[in-house]
Amino acid sequence: MPATAEATHDVVVLGGGSGGYACALRAAELGLSVVLVEKDLLGGTCLHRGCIPTKALLHAAEVADAAREAGRFGVRASLEGIDMPGVRSYREGVVARLHKGLQGLVKARKVEYVEGEGRLDGPGTVVVGDRRLVGRHVVLATGSYARTLPGLEVGGRVMTSDQALGLDEVPSRVVVLGGGVIGVEFASVLRSFGSEVTVVEALPRLVAAEDPASSTALERAFRKRGITVRTGARFAAAQDGPDAVTVRLEDGTELEADLLLVAVGRGPVTDGLGYEEAGVRLERGFVVPDGPCRTGVENLWAVGDIVPGLQLAHRGFAQGIYVAECIAGLDPAPVDEATIPRVTYCDPEVASVGLTEDQAREVHGDAVEAYEYNLGGNGKSQILGTQGFVKLVRVVDGPVVGVHMVGSRMGEQVGEAQLIVGWEAHPDDVSPFVHAHPTQNEALGEAHLALAGKPLHAHN
Ligand code: NAI
Repeated sequence: MPATAEATHDVVVLGGGSGGYACALRAAELGLSVVLVEKDLLGGTCLHRGCIPTKALLHAAEVADAAREAGRFGVRASLEGIDMPGVRSYREGVVARLHKGLQGLVKARKVEYVEGEGRLDGPGTVVVGDRRLVGRHVVLATGSYARTLPGLEVGGRVMTSDQALGLDEVPSRVVVLGGGVIGVEFASVLRSFGSEVTVVEALPRLVAAEDPASSTALERAFRKRGITVRTGARFAAAQDGPDAVTVRLEDGTELEADLLLVAVGRGPVTDGLGYEEAGVRLERGFVVPDGPCRTGVENLWAVGDIVPGLQLAHRGFAQGIYVAECIAGLDPAPVDEATIPRVTYCDPEVASVGLTEDQAREVHGDAVEAYEYNLGGNGKSQILGTQGFVKLVRVVDGPVVGVHMVGSRMGEQVGEAQLIVGWEAHPDDVSPFVHAHPTQNEALGEAHLALAGKPLHAHN
């Protein structure tokens, strides 16, 4: 902050998404004066274009599958079709209620909310229109955008998740470019809605950041659902014509579709915002951190998707809270990336926390043991008609360092898994806890029983 500029607020937060608003709310709760700057809608990507609306779509997809497959459960019902305007109003209703609640919270905590595009003008000042907001501290929380590939222009039948959210009819044929998190979630929704779906992924497997066992199970389940999975396939070009978009792969294959969904990652929003001019080092657009959430410039912080690491809303919330507490003079523990849970909400869900088996072997050498409990032995999973597993990765005679799960609704089990990994529990620490029967949670309990040498509904 230039010596002449007098602070208008204790904290200026630039960006009102998960990281930014969490920081603003916590800072206000701690008695600091806070201004939150947002150019679009309070709640950011997660609330308006990401987590919440896509999970609403996934729930509508689950309802469609339940109707389609009702006969399996002896229930006479049939799926007449998908009413996309109806899906839209359900989705928008969920988002609107949460948005209103969040606006109420910001108001109640007396955070000053400034609508407009802000830009850093030196380390301590954010300019929004004709206002200069000078903070004792400034928090950068400008989030991320959906990337595309060089030469692949978004428009017409070529969409990212931003546009695909608002589809007003179900496309007959879809090519999903990228078999990461967004790619498989949209593939799952659109297949449930009745589209023919092909996923094109350059790497050898879907959800490549997960344990290979999870990728294999997901690919098998997707194939069973009639989703075509092309792994090890690289995109070459796309041409949007009058009747269809033609997608060409590097091996010469041509695929025709009514929609090409581009899901090749999200890039940080840091360009042209005055960050580098203020002394922040950027690498491929990401802030190069100098300590947890630190930018290398005094009293200038960064949280969320602009900080390299997992681009997840819950990581953003935790970082925002951490920074607010640091600014308030508390001594919080930095956010531990290693115990952040990951859930991909396709059907079947993929959930994990901690190390994959390969990562564990890199860290602990041969002293690693893995155990896979098949959901075939889990009563509730059989009732639901889902397949999958709970895989535990542990250090021999030591703690569980990774939990990997596949199966409908298994994302809900990640809470216990994260406590086990975070508290470095041994199977013997977990096995005495009685898990409720019949729940899917029991599968986690039984996997630990088996690793502790006393399997019930499983082989050792
Ligand atoms: P991602 O990084 O998960 O996946 C992108 C995929 O595209 C990669 O597997 C990559 O190999 C592939 N790819 C890149 N170039 C390609 C090419 N030329 N040809 C074929 N394949 C190519 O990114 P995604 O799915 O776009 O998601 C962005 C971020 O949003 C992720 O970091 C994710 O964590 C977050 N997110 C999280 C969700 C959740 O937690 N449930 C839901 C949705 C997004």
